Amino acid sequence: MDARRILTTLRTGREPSRGELRWFAKALASGEVDDAQAGAFAMGVCRSPLSDEARVSLTMAMRDSGNSLKWDLPGPVVDKHSTGGVGDCISLTLGPAIASLGAYVPMLSGRGLGHTGGTLDKLEAIPGLSTEMDEQTFQRVVADAGCALVAAGSGIAPADRRLYAIRDVTSTVESIDLITASILSKKLAGGVGPLVLDVKVGSGAFMTSMPEAEALAKSLVNTANGAAGPAAALITDMNQPCVPSVGNALEIMEVMKALVDPKEDSIVSVLTAELGGELLRLAGMAESSSEGAVQVMDALRSGAAAERFGRMVAAKGGPSDFVERWRDRLPAAPVTRGVPASQSGTVAAIDSYALGMAVVHLRGGRRRLGETIDPSVGLSGVVSIGTSVEVGDPLAIVHGATRTEAETVAAELSASFTVNSGDVSRPPLVHGTVA
Ligand code: URA
Repeated sequence: MDARRILTTLRTGREPSRGELRWFAKALASGEVDDAQAGAFAMGVCRSPLSDEARVSLTMAMRDSGNSLKWDLPGPVVDKHSTGGVGDCISLTLGPAIASLGAYVPMLSGRGLGHTGGTLDKLEAIPGLSTEMDEQTFQRVVADAGCALVAAGSGIAPADRRLYAIRDVTSTVESIDLITASILSKKLAGGVGPLVLDVKVGSGAFMTSMPEAEALAKSLVNTANGAAGPAAALITDMNQPCVPSVGNALEIMEVMKALVDPKEDSIVSVLTAELGGELLRLAGMAESSSEGAVQVMDALRSGAAAERFGRMVAAKGGPSDFVERWRDRLPAAPVTRGVPASQSGTVAAIDSYALGMAVVHLRGGRRRLGETIDPSVGLSGVVSIGTSVEVGDPLAIVHGATRTEAETVAAELSASFTVNSGDVSRPPLVHGTVA
């Protein structure tokens, strides 16, 4: 086969066949197509979107470009994926909660991307913990703790690994077909069955409007159903962080608070229960998502989820007493500065993208591939939409490595909060479900 034939097909607005897509994915993984051809392929898909059938074929072809994991466990093997947000640490509460209810959650997770944080970076804020492990160790940790959130090895969906890097530099990230194939090829190679997708919408998400989020949710659900097993997506709000902190160690602190002392009406508890409830329904472990949500909330309240989190941390090389001693174990930044409200009123809007970028500027996220990050920096005490503030009250606390960095970021961030004198309604947490 010749890559140019496939590129001509795309250029002339036609769709490559299943066999051609399989060949292209293998050739991406083996290096048989060069970077220019891979970039032209990505641009071709951006310019002429794929049918549902072709998107399923591309996803399966990318999944099959490498190894797939197989599980032999005495319970359903399930997974959850978020399209990415700010202060989004829900995988870290949901995985252990679901594991404590009898399912297994082998979650291949990612690092920070752009302004959004990554689950692996957050976990690695725990001293000694490693998210890189061979398949045998991954299997053992999942069998013992019920969940493990780890980095995908180089053998998982290598076609995506290559295409993703090329999309990043060819302005072809924002294609629903390519995002779908990228996310699902990795998830499906992880060997999971039922899958719940958290499609984020709002100022801190990749999709900022409902039509875009709905299109992505439908594409992900249809493709997952076509390529593997039952899937559903919740479209959830990302107009403010899911927890009042943004940054790696600071978000782990919020995870621990949610696991050891859950507040039932907090965003993190509600989203964990809603997404987890849907996942339990898909796995046949609950009659309905609302019944599943009750089970998940019970797992948080009883401490069962916290116990699973502790087991997972210890199995990955972290402290064995983390659940009891997390406050002493996490790194803390040396300098803190408040972001003062410039007027009194009610917080009406938050530019969550700017909050995510502030953490990158503090060096809690990467500006270049492979850059070392500082797990201790970030933001805490971020006010939520609808909070009343007086002039001078802190809207957030900046945690920085130096005084200059903390002060610069604090000064920049005050424009990211809109404070009004009128009534403000809080955004709903779940905007819709696609099943
Ligand atoms: N996450 C992925 O893994 N791939 C994308 O294309 C976008 C988000």
